[in-house]
This record gives sequence, C-alpha cells and structure tokens, in this order.
Amino acid sequence: MPAIAATPVTPSLLPTYKRAPMEFVRGEGVELIDADGKRYIDFTSGIAVNALGYGDAGLQEAIRHAAEGLIHVSNLYRTAPGEQLADKFVATSFADRVFFCNSGAEANEGAFKFARRWARGIGGPAKHEIFSLRGAFHGRLFGTVAATDRPQYRMPFRPLAGGISILERDLDDLVISVNAETTAAVILEPIQGEGGVRVLEPAFVQAVRELTRARNVALIFDEIQCGMGRTGHLYAYERLGVAPDILTLAKPIAAGLPMGAILMTEEIGAAIQAGDHGTTFGGGPFVASVALHVFDRLSDPALLAHVREMGTWFSDQLHGMSQRTGRIRAIRGAGLMWGFDVVEPAADIIGRARDAGLLLVSAGEHTIRILPPLVATRDDLARGLVILEGALAVG
Ligand SMILES: Cc1ncc(COP(=O)(O)O)c(C=O)c1O
Repeated sequence: MPAIAATPVTPSLLPTYKRAPMEFVRGEGVELIDADGKRYIDFTSGIAVNALGYGDAGLQEAIRHAAEGLIHVSNLYRTAPGEQLADKFVATSFADRVFFCNSGAEANEGAFKFARRWARGIGGPAKHEIFSLRGAFHGRLFGTVAATDRPQYRMPFRPLAGGISILERDLDDLVISVNAETTAAVILEPIQGEGGVRVLEPAFVQAVRELTRARNVALIFDEIQCGMGRTGHLYAYERLGVAPDILTLAKPIAAGLPMGAILMTEEIGAAIQAGDHGTTFGGGPFVASVALHVFDRLSDPALLAHVREMGTWFSDQLHGMSQRTGRIRAIRGAGLMWGFDVVEPAADIIGRARDAGLLLVSAGEHTIRILPPLVATRDDLARGLVILEGALAVG
C-alpha cells in the first residue's frame, strides 16, 4: 500500500509533536477514519485514553446530557456530579478522599504536594524527598519531569524541581535511600507505560509497601496509564495485593475529556487544609457528569472480565507470532496493555503498520506498545494482529 502523502502541519502550531501525516476526521468502534476515508484499527486508544473506542452511543448520550446541565461554576461552589464521582472512587478503592484535576501530570504534581504536606506535618521540613524508579514516566511539568527517567525530557529544562530523584527498580536501592527522617514519598507505576511496558512484580511492590510503611513514607501509585480497567481490574493495584496511600488517575477517566484524579487515605487527606491546593477547572460539573458514565462502564464486572479474557488470548497470540516470525522478544503486559521488544527501530514497524491500517505506539526506541480500546472484540484484535504480523515480517 502506498505511503500517505504528507500534508504540512500549519506552522501556527508549536512543533512539539512529531505527527503522523494523515488527518483523522471520524471514528467508529476501534477504528479511526482519515480525510481520504482510509480506516485504521487503533491499538493506541489515544495513548490509553479512549477505553470506550470511538462513536460510543452511551458516551455520546452522556455528553449530550452533561451539555444540558452546568458546564462550569468554579470550586467556590458545590455541584453534584463531582461529589457523586468522588463517592464512587471512595466506594470502590482504598481511598477516603479524592481531589479532581485536569491531566496526568497535574495529578502527580498534586500527589507530590499532598505527600509533602503530610510528611512535613509528621517530620518537619527535612522530610521532603520524593523518589521515583528507573524507567518511570510521571509527566512533563517541573516536579513530574524530575521524577521521569528520560534524559531528553529533562536535560533542556534544568534546574528541575529539587528534592526529587530516581532510584533503581531494586529493593536494595530503596532500602539504602528511603529514609524515615528525610523521605516524604515513593512513586511508582504498577506497570510502567512509557518506560517499556514493564510489569512490576507483586513481590517487589509488596516489599516497597512494607518498607514505606515501616519508614513512615507515603507510597504513591501512578495508574494514569494502567488504571481504570486496563489490566482487567478497575485499579491496577488490585493484582498486587497491596494498596498505596495515594493513587493518581487520568487518561481514560472521562474517556477523552481532560480529567485527572488524586485518591488518598484519610491520614493523607487530614493533612490538607482549605487553600493548600486548587485548580480552576478540576472536577467541574460537565466533565464529572461524563466521568460518572465512564466510571460505570469501566467498573462493570462484565467489561473487566472481557479485558482479562482478551488479555490472556492476546498474550497467546503474541507468543505465537513471536515463534512464527522470530521478530518479537520479551513480551510483557496484562489485560489490554502489552509491549514487546523488536530489533529494528520501533518507528519503522509502526510506520509500516500505519500504512497497512493499524495504529501502534512505541515505548522506547525498540519497544512496541499496544493499548487497544477496552471494548475491542476478539475479531477487532485479530484483524489488528494480522496487520502487525505483516508489518513485522517485511523489515
Ligand atoms: C504513567 C503516566 N503518568 C503520567 C502521565 C502524564 O499524563 P498527562 O500527559 O495527562 O500529563 C502519563 C502520560 O502518558 C503516564 O503514562
């Protein structure tokens, strides 16, 4: 199939993104459709956002319903959807309190502030350090980029926020560095997304939980990419057998409308006073009303069982493809979040798959990441896998 002729992106847009050449105009189910009518099976979900796929009738109805109500009133006043949504998160998780914001990075920045506020209360200003792990991605703002392990995202912007550093994904490193007097928090992704789809071992996370509890350090789980049903559990921590003190969510929670959330225990929440943190748009009635619908869809046990079942099947298919092609190694993932390493540049495979009608995303230069909509059927996934195998075999 011929490659698409590139139409130049308007110079009015700051060129921060390397965009693919096609322009999308519509979507249906798991497919995106470009301006020439060409269809693409989407194994990226807008980078783990579009869990319900495209053109979902229930989501459209929820948006219409929300649009008839209030859009925004500010956090000076009460509105029902945000309160109802917070109640749902509390009812289904370890958390007692919820703060809503607008993106993943903002959720993690807030989590860092809440952890520091709590830590200062019990240990004074010396108890402020935040540690993340090798391979982490927590966002692009000053605090979160300091916790993100990608030199190219960090170097041009130094000095980054202080008191935030990266440790190896190794218990010994944590035992040496995490300190009751000076450490406020440890943050980790139960499955590292951008860092290569690395599934943290339950035993490792359980040991980090024990260590942080013993040293009175807040444990933050960043489930911005792996949470809200992606692993086949509403929260990714459910498969780890331990809960954090703070949990951050974003990407799919309003199925494409910008929203983030910070969930926390009563102990952390009790340290936060009125005025300690805020954000103009966070948890507004329009987005929260849509998120109420999304929450019900993504917490549906039938949907979660579907994701687990598809995950098992998908893993088998990838292993079969690995044996047939010899071009896939180190398959990693859970539910509908998969990654595998390739020898040639991931960008080359992604380009060939795109020309053949399949959207993929990388997670490092030699890792392909697969994040289909959670509503994808076996047939949808199988069609994408056929294209993937073709794209792997050509190089
Ligand atoms: C695990 C994780 N944390 C944080 C972020 C940052 O989210 P956002 O791009 O909404 O700021 C991302 C985005 O990819 C992510 O995958």
